[in-house]
Amino acid sequence: MKLFTAALILSTSLFGAEGLTHEQMMQTGKNIYETTCISCHGVNGNTDPEMKLVVRPRQLSKSILSEDQMFQIVKHGAHTFGAHADIMPTFKYVYDDNQIRSVAHYVSQSFNKERTQRIEKLLNESTKLSSEQKAQRLKVGAKIFRRKCGMCHGITGNGESEYVEQSKADENFIYPYNLQKILLSEEQIFLYAKFGGHFWGTAKNDMPSWKKRYNDVKLKSVAHYVAQKIKKPNNPQE
Ligand code: HEC
Ligand code: HEC
Repeated sequence: MKLFTAALILSTSLFGAEGLTHEQMMQTGKNIYETTCISCHGVNGNTDPEMKLVVRPRQLSKSILSEDQMFQIVKHGAHTFGAHADIMPTFKYVYDDNQIRSVAHYVSQSFNKERTQRIEKLLNESTKLSSEQKAQRLKVGAKIFRRKCGMCHGITGNGESEYVEQSKADENFIYPYNLQKILLSEEQIFLYAKFGGHFWGTAKNDMPSWKKRYNDVKLKSVAHYVAQKIKKPNNPQE
């Protein structure tokens, strides 16, 4: 928990370092959002669920992502961080870093202000692991990953599996992310797996919620396994 809070403070202070005031970022961000993003992500980040795109844009008002993670995705595109499609494109050829920081700031502050409290509350309410359970995480997590998550995300987590191959023909099929490339922290992976994609803004429950099937100890174990053994460092070049 402490570590998590420290990371949040750190990422907030990084924005201050850019030399833009909150007001400047909000103004620039709003302009960019309303010219470039609103057609897909909707008014106040509430995407129209009926939108006809292969991958429906996420509801940014429900996103699990921090401002800094949003910056990364807007700059480099969702595909760089594990999405199958390139429907959420890179904006690095359109906007400079300060403009992208501004739109990430605007989205976080205007549509998703409760995110931090929401996440802290969910983490506080979750079961704490004993040192014995902590020591078993990789073993327990590997088993669940191979049995369940691997079915869609592939045993190596790269988003390829027999199920994916078979399902490609279905026009509503949504591709599982390549978990080797994701930005999410261990806590975020736990919360994403526990509550599923829809809770965090996808159009429907593409990524299932696992809370009925696995308890927090199991889900924290699998999140630890993904963070330690599947996810790889991913720092795209400029
Ligand atoms: C052509 C439609 C389109 C446009 C324009 C677009 N997006 Fe997206 N966006 C998407 C889709 C689709 C996704 C989901 C990506 C996926 O899972 O493949 C997404 C995902 C995102 C995410 C990740 C959210 C999460 O919780 O994982 C962020 C942040 C984001 N968009 C911000 C923006 C911003 C800011 C702009 C404007 C600069 C923008 N998008 C413009 C379609 C679009
Ligand atoms: C039925 C197929 C399916 C299974 C099984 C599945 N996933 Fe997913 N997962 C998806 C899809 C599809 C997405 C992308 C769309 C979405 O987020 O809803 C996704 C996205 C994710 C993401 C979000 C990545 C990001 O950066 O946004 C995480 C984390 C994740 N899955 C972890 C897991 C874990 C852990 C398990 C096992 C407990 C698991 N998944 C089992 C289909 C699946």
